[in-house]
Amino acid sequence: MQISPSILSADFANLQSELEAISNADWAHVDVMDNHFVPNLTLGLPVVEALLEVSPVPVDCHLMIEDPDRWAPGYAEAGAQSVTFHVEAARDPVATARAIRAAGARAAFAVKPGTPFDPYEELLAEVDMVLVMTVEPGFGGQSFMADQMPKVRRVREAVRRRGGEIWVQVDGGVSADTIEQCAEAGADVFVAGSAVYGKDSAAAAVDDLRALAER
Ligand code: DX5
Ligand code: ZN
Repeated sequence: MQISPSILSADFANLQSELEAISNADWAHVDVMDNHFVPNLTLGLPVVEALLEVSPVPVDCHLMIEDPDRWAPGYAEAGAQSVTFHVEAARDPVATARAIRAAGARAAFAVKPGTPFDPYEELLAEVDMVLVMTVEPGFGGQSFMADQMPKVRRVREAVRRRGGEIWVQVDGGVSADTIEQCAEAGADVFVAGSAVYGKDSAAAAVDDLRALAER
């Protein structure tokens, strides 16, 4: 069970100390948004490069951008240890996943709440993780969509059938109130923004979430 705090809810003026505050986490989740794939704009490759210099934990890049075929490999080349692109945006998801892996990162694909997993089952051969969104991508602090749990189960079942080690990540509205149902459905990597950085102690929130996921 791994916790990946989303720095989207961190203090953007103090990202180094915000990363140090979650040094007990497994990953730092960095949300890249381009104001085209989602109606919000966050940060891009130059900022990710700077974060990689100071992050005490590996960086988990979630690309909510158009044309990931073109941009995703660059994040892996920069040193991000995991790079996730959206299947809705990719023209050639197989080639994109292969390019991410060739650059030395773990590759993952993400599905929005309205996107079914089944048509992409074959893609499991090319990735190390599947991200099931539990909110519409674009913003932190939204309500958890429990209706995505059947999809998490389908992904977990498909991973089991295939064998091998593919992680199942959930992102959006994950908190102390919702993390157990995600774990029960088969998720093993949990992104949490407001449920970590909205707390007095981000580190304590990470430990609490991990303990609940492992219950
Ligand atoms: C939403 C982002 C999430 C976001 C989660 O589009 O992908 O990573 O930061 O924030 P919370 O945990 O507050 O829902
Ligand atoms: Zn995210």
